[in-house]
Amino acid sequence: MKIAVIGKGGREQALVETLAASPGNPQLFSFPGSDAILQTAQPIPAHDMDELISWMMANKIDLCVAGEESYLVKGEGLANRCAAAGIPCWGPPKESAQLEASKEFAKKFMNRHGIPTGRAVAVQDRETALQAIGDRYPTVLKFDGLAAGKGVAVCADAAQAEEFLDEVFTRKRFGEGHLLVEEYLTGPEISIFAAVCDDNYLILCPARDYKRLKDGDEGPNTGGMGAVASRRLTDGDTLRCIEQTIVAPTVAGLRKDHLPYRGFLYFGLMLTPEGPKVIEYNCRFGDPECEAVMPLLHGDLAGFCMAGARGEFKPELISFREGWSVCCILASAGYPSSSHSGDTIHGLDDCAARVFHCGTKRVGDEWQTAGGRVLAIVATGDTLDAARKAAHAETAKIDFDGSQRRSDIAYRNV
Ligand code: AMP
Ligand code: GLY
Repeated sequence: MKIAVIGKGGREQALVETLAASPGNPQLFSFPGSDAILQTAQPIPAHDMDELISWMMANKIDLCVAGEESYLVKGEGLANRCAAAGIPCWGPPKESAQLEASKEFAKKFMNRHGIPTGRAVAVQDRETALQAIGDRYPTVLKFDGLAAGKGVAVCADAAQAEEFLDEVFTRKRFGEGHLLVEEYLTGPEISIFAAVCDDNYLILCPARDYKRLKDGDEGPNTGGMGAVASRRLTDGDTLRCIEQTIVAPTVAGLRKDHLPYRGFLYFGLMLTPEGPKVIEYNCRFGDPECEAVMPLLHGDLAGFCMAGARGEFKPELISFREGWSVCCILASAGYPSSSHSGDTIHGLDDCAARVFHCGTKRVGDEWQTAGGRVLAIVATGDTLDAARKAAHAETAKIDFDGSQRRSDIAYRNV
């Protein structure tokens, strides 16, 4: 079996390695890939989507796995192009990926199908936004488009709101687009992942990510500074409630709205005093949650995705081990407002944990930083304490100039 994984980060490396370890020894390929991914997968010599599709057809790729969201909505959409080329794709078509690409689309979808979420209004300019906020602070402002996890601002007061409104409407940091003014919700957050195949779904191992840059959930939002995963992260009652009020109605809603879906679906939830509510949908696995979850996966991920992409739901092919997995991110200087490339990474050889590369490059015989999030260091253990101690201890062995990390990953909010 030949599998192409699309993306270049730590999530894609975790997927590539887990797919490669599936029984049947599939051959892995990656686009655009990274120096780290290309240690396991072969490079796909393409520069754009057209060349990628042609290459996959010419090389008889059996399965395309979408890692990163941008390809799902770029041009005609990766899954749509794959469908036209007869290549099974694990990842939804463009029309369904609007659940992630447009927060307004997702909000309307949830309201239409009675899925619990914060109240929100869509606005198109600064004045209307300020009117919609009124004097209700904290308030949550969400740019209506893909923004690599940086398009959301939780604003404590008017000054913070005006600053973000400037970024969106004046400086256009994220490009053109609307904004949602959303009700501020409180409660612990959890990431629930489902593998969706038409009418069917399998809920995978839950995880929690740490979005703020600094310890104590302080500092700006990032793509994620770490994650913890375990089947024990939620109790049975909470998970049943999430399934009944959120996961099942979402999958049923997709069918009712004629939105085809075969792929991972990520529910970013807040466990509010009134029950679980959806903060966001993502139409792919989370990053860095994927790096934490994959080491707990047991079975045949390649077979599972291959069958799912063809419309055959085979939940018996994968399961998740008991125990815990903790992922710590090392980010480069300046992240998240900028990033720093070219810093030499030391200590990788001493690290006994699994390391996935989010943003690195190989230069001669050394690894260097090449992005905001640089490395994901992952340790598993029978207990939470064993996993987090190991993850932090192994992360401490790795260093580069200006490296940033959190020391409370899997200690806080578990
Ligand atoms: P998102 O990119 O939509 O996941 O939002 C990023 C982060 O902003 C979330 O992980 C939450 O911590 C926070 N957030 C988003 N929406 C809300 C909300 N309605 N109330 C409170 N915090 C929120
Ligand atoms: N960890 C958050 C995300 O993947 O969007």
